[in-house]
Amino acid sequence: MLADIAVIGAGYVGLTLAVGAAHVGHTVSVGERDQKRVAALRNRVCPIFEEGLADLLSEGLVAGKLTFTTSNVEAVETAELVFLTVPTPSASNGSADLTVLNAVVDELAPHLGDKILVLKSTVPVGTNRDVTARLRTAGCLAPVVSNPEFLREGTALADFLHPDHIVVGSDDADAVKRVAELFDQGCPVTMTDPMSAELVKYATNAYLATRVMMANSFADLCEAPGADIDAVTASLGRDHRIGPHFLQPGPGFGGSCFPKDARALLDLAGEHGLDVPILAAAVKVNASRQERIAAAVLAEVTEVSEPVVGLWGLAFKAGTDDTRESPALNIGELIAARGANVQAYDPEAVAGDPIRLCESALDAATGTDVLVIATEWPEFTGEDLAEVAEAMRGDLVIDLRNLLDPEAVRTAGLRHRRVGKPEQG
Ligand code: UDX
Repeated sequence: MLADIAVIGAGYVGLTLAVGAAHVGHTVSVGERDQKRVAALRNRVCPIFEEGLADLLSEGLVAGKLTFTTSNVEAVETAELVFLTVPTPSASNGSADLTVLNAVVDELAPHLGDKILVLKSTVPVGTNRDVTARLRTAGCLAPVVSNPEFLREGTALADFLHPDHIVVGSDDADAVKRVAELFDQGCPVTMTDPMSAELVKYATNAYLATRVMMANSFADLCEAPGADIDAVTASLGRDHRIGPHFLQPGPGFGGSCFPKDARALLDLAGEHGLDVPILAAAVKVNASRQERIAAAVLAEVTEVSEPVVGLWGLAFKAGTDDTRESPALNIGELIAARGANVQAYDPEAVAGDPIRLCESALDAATGTDVLVIATEWPEFTGEDLAEVAEAMRGDLVIDLRNLLDPEAVRTAGLRHRRVGKPEQG
């Protein structure tokens, strides 16, 4: 059933939700406090790089289904449902910082009436209860529903339009049903209490982050005796109890969710006198992995007086311009901090000092002693490796994503070090 909805916060989650909801026919008003962002969006300029988002933004604006305003109060005026998609960054102790969320709740309380308030930002367990209490204190009786978001950057719109499942939690059964039917695409829906809904999001990201770290540890274990991680993960993936996803080894997990949500879950556990040792280990191993990679790169240039390291990729993964907690950026900065010159190229993401940004992958490889591939952009596989070999000073490619074809690298006369594989060349 189509609805008039408001979305507060035009970040990755909010924009995808707003644009996707307008595309399926809902009327969407977005409240965003950043004036420049609102002006750009009204002019059909998409502030983030996300497959398909710019086109559907234009579509929604032209169809009159999508509007943007700097006034949250105006955004919710005619809405039946109000989605909060404001940032909840990590506070210094690892917990989620709810300053922005609470300020928006206070601001909107007098204007909600019986509209349904939907919490889509990733929030600590118990936030639904606290927000409800906050609204009641302000005399507002709006039901509060928790509806966590599972979209991945790079495939956000596809994830929104075709979710694996939907989770909706509230103490108000009618509100739960209303939110569930709003985006009903025939996928399984978990209707539950608010705390369980809040926990699902953290549990999902903590589980996946731990799984990635398991794959990375298996890769390390392959390298030492000379086993092949691809054979190991392919076989793991064929076991239906395990499944094939999130087993790709690499430089470690990053992005706006995994590291933040892992820290928040550990903080929640600590608050209750509990511990999640496997998750704590995953966070620790992830950080030390990037330290170890940086040290291994530097070990290759100890004899060089002015070492130059090339970095292909800055984004935390391919398909996005996002560098939040990016392993690629982190590794580049660690190498630069220890005295090597780092020059990088990424098709979408940027970096500043101490990393020198290049115009092309070939530029970033030129004059380098070692070339590190840190983000799995498919376009890197199309580079002319003979040209790269010619342009480099050294001959070692450290391929942290196992991206390049080993035969092509060997033919170009380069040494190829991959993750969880015997070194070649
Ligand atoms: C994640 C969740 O998948 C999504 O459901 C949630 O809403 C937000 O957080 P995202 O941050 O976009 O999405 O990235 P994701 O594709 O999950 O990857 C997270 C990190 O793990 C990246 O650094 C990625 O490179 C790494 N990763 C992922 C691996 O190293 N190997 C894998 O097999 C999968």
